[in-house]
Amino acid sequence: MRFSILAGHLLFGVNLVSATAIERTTSELVNSTACSNVHILIARGTTESYPGSLSTLAELITANNKDTTYENLVYPATDETSTDSYHIGKTVVRKQLTSFVERCGHSDSKLVVLAYSQGAMVIADTLAGGGGDSTLGNMTDPISFDIGKHSKIAKFYAHGRGANRSDAVDALVLYGDPRHAPYQPYNQGLNTFNVTGKYPRAEFQVQHLTDNYGHMIHDFCNVGDPVCASGSNITAHMVYPDIWDQTAANWVQSVLEKAR
Ligand SMILES: *[C@@H]1O[C@H](CO)[C@@H](O)[C@H](O)[C@H]1NC(C)=O
Ligand SMILES: *[C@@H]1O[C@H](CO)[C@@H](O)[C@H](O)[C@H]1NC(C)=O
Ligand SMILES: *[C@@H]1O[C@H](CO)[C@@H](O)[C@H](O)[C@H]1NC(C)=O
Ligand SMILES: *[C@@H]1O[C@H](CO)[C@@H](O)[C@H](O)[C@H]1NC(C)=O
Ligand SMILES: *[C@@H]1O[C@H](CO)[C@@H](O)[C@H](O)[C@H]1NC(C)=O
Repeated sequence: MRFSILAGHLLFGVNLVSATAIERTTSELVNSTACSNVHILIARGTTESYPGSLSTLAELITANNKDTTYENLVYPATDETSTDSYHIGKTVVRKQLTSFVERCGHSDSKLVVLAYSQGAMVIADTLAGGGGDSTLGNMTDPISFDIGKHSKIAKFYAHGRGANRSDAVDALVLYGDPRHAPYQPYNQGLNTFNVTGKYPRAEFQVQHLTDNYGHMIHDFCNVGDPVCASGSNITAHMVYPDIWDQTAANWVQSVLEKAR
């Protein structure tokens, strides 16, 4: 059986239950492109409406940090096997990441990227280089270090993010990445160190991602997930917020504390 990248809609009820447990007043998401203290970019999964099931994790991060805003990755999130969604998504990641670096690269604004399923694929492929698979088409180049590593801007604005904070992205959380690679140091989740996603990356793409961006990634993959772990348990692809939000929020917080 072949699964397309599955929507979270079957279990939206579950996600909403966990969202109600969070303090409304301090965790309310603000959709804005301001150069706030912490800015979150959310890349939702296939067929999710904005901002999608990552909203509960974004709410935890918002509650933990004053002056937090978010923006959506604005892309179709339709089935990647029958539409241009994946290709449009990669183009939009470049556009929105470049815009963040140009807008906020000289400020202390920290960028946290949260990405689920197809969203994880378009975000991580922008960094790693995309395509190279019969479904995903020809290979595309990884984003240049001018943006991804923020190198030009960091030199211009030595007093802003500075030489020690030259990554455009401070922290990237992946949930159920269809291109999940085994044995990477940033893999999280139980016994999923040895599993591969449904669209494996080329070896040099994995290497590029791990060498240059691995230090700021946490890649969560559940046992049995048909999308990231070659399994056959659809539920395993739907329960990331319930299982991992708290762990992911704690890790993001530790990264943000160091970046202050
Ligand atoms: C808010 O989210 C919507 C998607 O629902 C997006 O189209 C819009 O550009 C966002 N606004 C800002 C200010 O980011
Ligand atoms: C993929 O690459 C091949 C060989 O370079 C080229 O002929 C083809 O047009 C490309 N396909 C797309 C969709 O760009
Ligand atoms: C910044 O980097 C330099 C050289 O790599 C290092 O000596 C210094 O300790 C770093 N500073 C901080 C605050 O990490
Ligand atoms: C991966 O590791 C787990 C735990 O050690 C094991 O049960 C499983 O069979 C392994 N899977 C593969 C594909 O090697
Ligand atoms: C499928 O995944 C869910 C969520 O991780 C888990 O609770 C359930 O036990 C799994 N089912 C099977 C048959 O492994």
